[in-house]
Amino acid sequence: MSFLEYAAAPESRSILNLRENYGLFIDGKFVDGRGDAFTTISPADEAPIASIAYADEEDVDRAVAAARRAYDKVWSKMSGRDRGKYLFRIARLVQERARELAVAESLDNGKPIKESRDVDVPLVASWFFYYAGWADKLDYAGLGANPRAHGVAGQIIPWNFPLLMLAWKIAPALAAGNTVVLKPAETTPLSALIFAEILQQADLPAGVVNIVTGAGATGAALVRHPDVDKVAFTGSTGVGRDIAKAVAGTGKKVTLELGGKAANIVFDDAPIDQAVEGVVNGIFFNQGHVCCAGSRLLVQESIHDEVIDRLKTRLSTLRMGDPLDKNTDIGAINSAAQLARIRELSDIGEVEGAERWSADCVIPEKGFWFAPTIFTGVEASHRIAREEVFGPVLSVLTFRTPDEAIAKANNTPYGLSAGIWTDKGSRILAVADRLRAGVVWANTFNRFDPASPFGGYKESGYGREGGRHGLTAYLKGAAA
Ligand code: NAI
Ligand code: MG
Repeated sequence: MSFLEYAAAPESRSILNLRENYGLFIDGKFVDGRGDAFTTISPADEAPIASIAYADEEDVDRAVAAARRAYDKVWSKMSGRDRGKYLFRIARLVQERARELAVAESLDNGKPIKESRDVDVPLVASWFFYYAGWADKLDYAGLGANPRAHGVAGQIIPWNFPLLMLAWKIAPALAAGNTVVLKPAETTPLSALIFAEILQQADLPAGVVNIVTGAGATGAALVRHPDVDKVAFTGSTGVGRDIAKAVAGTGKKVTLELGGKAANIVFDDAPIDQAVEGVVNGIFFNQGHVCCAGSRLLVQESIHDEVIDRLKTRLSTLRMGDPLDKNTDIGAINSAAQLARIRELSDIGEVEGAERWSADCVIPEKGFWFAPTIFTGVEASHRIAREEVFGPVLSVLTFRTPDEAIAKANNTPYGLSAGIWTDKGSRILAVADRLRAGVVWANTFNRFDPASPFGGYKESGYGREGGRHGLTAYLKGAAA
């Protein structure tokens, strides 16, 4: 081992109390699924973790029926104050079992333990605490005269932040008085199933939350179920479109949180070292599997070379490897399919004429890995400048004037997030005002808070999650 290299510091898996098989969580109990069970693996070494039940249409129907009964008989009759008590209890149990949840998340998803431990799981708890506080205040928040729940919410979440997306969906739905059927992503069901154990521990009334594991067909059955009143989805734009079509004309309410291609704009007066840290966090956090990732760096021409030099130096210090190692900065790509997509788009980037540079990392033999990569000389027309790579790949473009930066930033079919790096407060305000993005960070990136609404424009979807706005999606007639 050379000077300044880190010794391995793996977080122990012994805290996990994994079962070999996980059933569907319906009506407060784990039950068998009717489809063929599937195996969830660790993307870091492809080792199987557990066998997971697959819900078919009939299973989804059972789950929706359980949610309906729980809504009619228990949850819709309960006071907001009492609903809030359950949410507080869940939040505290998430904190109590935080280490276990973090280890499970990193194992199943491939993200570094320092992220699951310091970002994902604490945010999950804060989301439940935050919405617990809203449950008894719905009448006093300008949400209409008599805000009422929709009924049964069908929720479908992706694999990039499995437990955090669960919290973003379940916490506001329950606070507003809905019951839930949630479908986790097929590569990352584990933390949702441990969360189901937490619901049992919290004595949440049976059927208030049901978790059906499976793949796209399970999600499609949930979206199309006639007794689902509200659909909430986070995932790809393609599936989002399919869902919008499926619910059109049915009277179901729908919110979609889809992809992004965020511009991270660095002006020449920005503190460069801080901006470089922000750029790294913006695109290499969670292996770039982030819908609001700062995947397009727009850097002012006069500082381009300096920024790229410092960026390469910084990327060369990132440690890629075992997600459970506390020193790891870059974990595994979530699946073979996602790795193939990242490779394909990166190869296209080269063919289209951009210049590729990758950090010199030791790629582990097993598992799915992709070294942090930047493309310079990217044109706005290149596919790596337009399409969501959803991986550790940064496309760098330049600009000369603030107007050009804004025009380039807005030149995207998406509109989820953006970042601005500059020394001038007035410039932050002026530029942010003209960016067509749901969230604009200034001199920071990828910061989340349960009180802050999150959501996009255009192909990034519609509806807002988080804050008071996030409640309106789960209430009848409430305007944001
Ligand atoms: P996906 O959109 O297929 O998967 C997301 C969730 O939707 C999963 O739970 C999946 O089982 C479910 N699903 C799939 N087909 C469905 C259908 N017809 N009806 C209802 N639910 C369905 O995303 P995938 O294939 O895993 O990733 C493909 C690309 O999508 C990524 O490369 C990335 O660009 C983008 N993506 C964006 C996310 C975001 O947060 N914005 C999250 C995940 C993927
Ligand atoms: Mg997995």
